[in-house]
This record gives sequence, structure tokens and C-alpha cells, in this order.
Amino acid sequence: MKANELSYNELSCLYEITKLIISTNDINIVLKDTLIILSDMMNLKRGIISIYNKSENKIFHDSFGFKDPDEIIKFDPGEGITGKVIESGIPIGIPRLDKEPLFLDKTGIRKSLNRRELSFICVPIKYNDENVGALSVDMRAKEEDYDLAKEIKFLSNVAELLSETVNKRSLYAENLQLRDMLKKSSPVGTIVGNSKTIRDVSDQILTVSKSNISVLITGETGTGKELVAKEIHTQSKRGKNPFIVVNCGAIPEGVIESELFGHVKGAFTGALGNRVGKFEAANNGTIFLDEIAELSLQLQVKLLRVLQEKEITRVGENNTRKINVRILAATNKNLDEEIQKGTFRQDLYYRLNGFHIYVPPLRERGSDIILLADYFIQKYSKELGKIITRLDTPSIDMLMKYHWPGNVRELENCIERACLLTNDDTIHSHNLPPSLQMKSVSAKDQKLGKFDLLVKNYEIELITEALKLTNGNQAKAAELLDTTKRILQYKINIYDLDYKRYRNKK
Ligand SMILES: Nc1ncnc2c1ncn2[C@@H]1O[C@H](COP(=O)(O)OP(=O)(O)O)[C@@H](O)[C@H]1O
Ligand SMILES: [Mg+2]
Repeated sequence: MKANELSYNELSCLYEITKLIISTNDINIVLKDTLIILSDMMNLKRGIISIYNKSENKIFHDSFGFKDPDEIIKFDPGEGITGKVIESGIPIGIPRLDKEPLFLDKTGIRKSLNRRELSFICVPIKYNDENVGALSVDMRAKEEDYDLAKEIKFLSNVAELLSETVNKRSLYAENLQLRDMLKKSSPVGTIVGNSKTIRDVSDQILTVSKSNISVLITGETGTGKELVAKEIHTQSKRGKNPFIVVNCGAIPEGVIESELFGHVKGAFTGALGNRVGKFEAANNGTIFLDEIAELSLQLQVKLLRVLQEKEITRVGENNTRKINVRILAATNKNLDEEIQKGTFRQDLYYRLNGFHIYVPPLRERGSDIILLADYFIQKYSKELGKIITRLDTPSIDMLMKYHWPGNVRELENCIERACLLTNDDTIHSHNLPPSLQMKSVSAKDQKLGKFDLLVKNYEIELITEALKLTNGNQAKAAELLDTTKRILQYKINIYDLDYKRYRNKK
């Protein structure tokens, strides 16, 4: 039989693998079960699928989601047989493993086997002409100089079937790496952001979490106040004890007292049994009083007493109970104004405001918008079981230009929706909501303050000058300005500068 003809057995194996690929979108199942089929039907043992992670320029052996990322052995393109195959895109067949010094056996699985009895085949897996991985298997050795062409031909067919799945797997690895980078760049646990303002907030969180001081968190709606409160709790010594959230604006006036402090049986109509309030539930932990400005003056008095005495009384009961609770409170209102108006008690304000953390609006956090967008793409693509890896340039532009009145919460909703809408691995500008589409550059310009306008004009001046000097060569212009080509391109784009105009002019 000639090498380019497949046997009945080989064809039915390819057929099984095709059925498998059609039956599921689960990358791990496709890759793992393909190896099982090869082993069962073709007696090709110890199959390995190796994945090339382009952004890291490293290869790793896939373990189908079972391994801790830190345990995965990584190696370079060109290293060992697999590295050579992925680098060159050319299959390699070794008739007898004991004759091959290049064979590294990185996995160690052949330590106890007799290499003289083993042949090894490794074929590249390509996607759109790029080598995204490799498939390798062992088989029983025949003669020493046996021609493995037929087996290579068959495995190349399998590799072709796996092309799209392995490409997805490779993108998934890049995604994980991105998330890792985001984690490292974020100063405190769950808080994503690298802007000066957010790093300041993180520093403040670390400072206050060392003590029991009460903290007042202010900022517009959706900026992350609750996240900050949670983080203060988690980082503190109370971190393992309860964190209880009370939304003071969402509980009807009639029941809030019993919500906060609990009640005893028969305290009022409908109090059928004893009930533990939020303060008792938070004992030894932290209570987070959200939207504190919504609390009535009457309850403000009661709350103040609790904070002073460190004890509560359940509704309908006479005796008091000692509690040990840390108080965090938040509001999007200006409490100074509320005090002026007479709707908030000054003495309570002083009690709550042991330390003040102001969470800045999203529009003041610069490129954190993109970091957060990437983070939410991660979150929602995973939830939706989709692989989405990037934002296209027009959508980055739109996200950066928008003024985000609903802050991080609005950005999160916007990205969730875009992840749902996109049909490929990219978020496009038309996947973003209409409210963002309408904010053209000119609409934003109307809102630019004097300082922003001066900065913008100065930037345009500098960039134009650099482009003139470099004949419109963006890379060289970026070098001249001591910045990166990407940042320069981004600015050229938002300021709508025509860099080609400067080509070939002295
Ligand atoms: N810096 C951040 N990093 C990651 N997620 C954030 C960040 N800030 C806010 N979020 C998310 O945005 C949403 C709104 O935040 P939240 O804390 O409820 O805002 P607020 O209490 O100020 O209205 C939540 O889902 C929160 O997890
Ligand atoms: Mg909130």
C-alpha cells in the first residue's frame, strides 16, 4: 500500500474523531478523547498534544485542564523533537527511540520502558498556516530503518481535524496568561486597575485593614465601593468571619430596625419567632452599611447609640447584647450637604468617618478602562463558554472616549452584552451599546475643560512635529517621543491625524 492511501482502520478512526469533534464544543474533551481513540483503535500509545502559546513564545504539553498552571513544563520552539516540529512545521518520525539523542522525554513517562522497542512520531498542527501545536504518539518499533511515512500521513490527517480545536486551546492559554498578568498588576486582590488613583485606593485599603477603625467609602454609583468594603474585610484579621451587607435604601422603614437589631417573638404583629439581626449576624466580623444617607433620622439615633455602646437590643426585648462588629459605610451622596440640610446627623457622621476612602469615577482612571474591559471579557466569555480574546481598535477608542456615568457597573454590563453579541473572538464596535456609539469626538470636545484642551493641543503639536521629522514613519516618531508605537497610533487615531500626509516631504 502507498503512503497516501489510508487503510479501512485508519479511515474509521478519522471518522470517530470527526464525530467526536462535531458532538461537543468542549476543547478538553475533544483533545483527550482523540488520544484515547488513537490508543484504542490504532494502538498509538502515550499520545501527547502540545500547544504553542504565541504571546509567551513557549510550548507546553496539554494536560486537559487537570494541572495547576505552575506545574506545567514549558519549553521553547526548536527545543527537543516537539519544539523542532512546531518551529519548522515539518513532521518527524523516529523508527527507534534508543537511536535518537534529541529525544528529551520531558514528561518522563518512558523512563521504565525499553526505548529500543519504541517508534515515535510527531506531526505539526497548523491553523491558517501558523503552527499552533503538535501531536505526538509512540508505536511499537518495527525495523531500525523502517519508513514511517504511512503513519505520518495518517497522523497528519488527525492533526488537520484537530486544527481548530488546538487553535482555540492555544488562545485559551493566552487568555489565562492575560488574566494572570491582570492579577499581578492589580495592587489588591480583586480590585483591577493600575491607575495612580486606584493604586492610592488600594494603599488606603491595606492601611485601614490593619485596624478596626470605621471607614466611610464615598464615590459615584458603580465605582466599586462595595468591592472596596469587601476587600477591607478580607484583608483584615476578621477576614474569615462574617461580612454582612445591609442596603439601607432598600429596606422599608417599618422593618429596618428589626432587620438591623433583630426582634423577639411577639414584639409586633407578625413577629412569630425570635430573629437575629444583621448586627448580631456580623458579630466578630464586619457590617457594611450601604447607602447610609438613606437611613431615617430616627434610626440614625439608634445606630449611633449602638456604635457608642457596642451593644444592641432586639426589638421587643429589654436586655442588651454585647457585639464586636467593625463598621464600614458607603454613600454616593455628599454627607456634608446632607448635614447642612438637616437630613444627616453630624455626630453619626463623625462616628462613621474614622477614615475616609474616596473611590474615583471610571472616567478619571485612564487606561484602567481597557484593563477592566479585558477583565470582564475574561469573566463573561468564560461564563458563556466562548473564546473571546480581543477588543478591536474602534471599540477601544469608543470605550476610552465615553464618559461612563454608570462607572464600572455600566462598563461591566456593556462588556457582558458585547460578549453575548459577538460571533467571533473579537469585540467589535457594533457590539457596544448605542449610547457609546453616539459619543463622537466633537461631543466629547464640548465637555473638555480648559486643561484637557491644552493637553490635547499640545499632544497634537508634538505628534505632528515628530511625524514631520520622520516623514510619517510612526515607529520612528514614537521612538523620538520616547513612547510606544501603540500609544502613538492610538493618539493618531483619536485625534484623527493623517500621518501619510507627512510621507516623502522634507
Ligand atoms: N476595580 C474593579 N475591579 C474589578 N471589578 C470592579 C472594580 N470596581 C467595580 N467592579 C465591579 O463593578 C460592579 C459595581 O461595583 P460596586 O462595588 O457594586 O459599586 P458601588 O457599590 O460603588 O455601586 C461590581 O460587579 C464590581 O465587582
Ligand atoms: Mg453599591
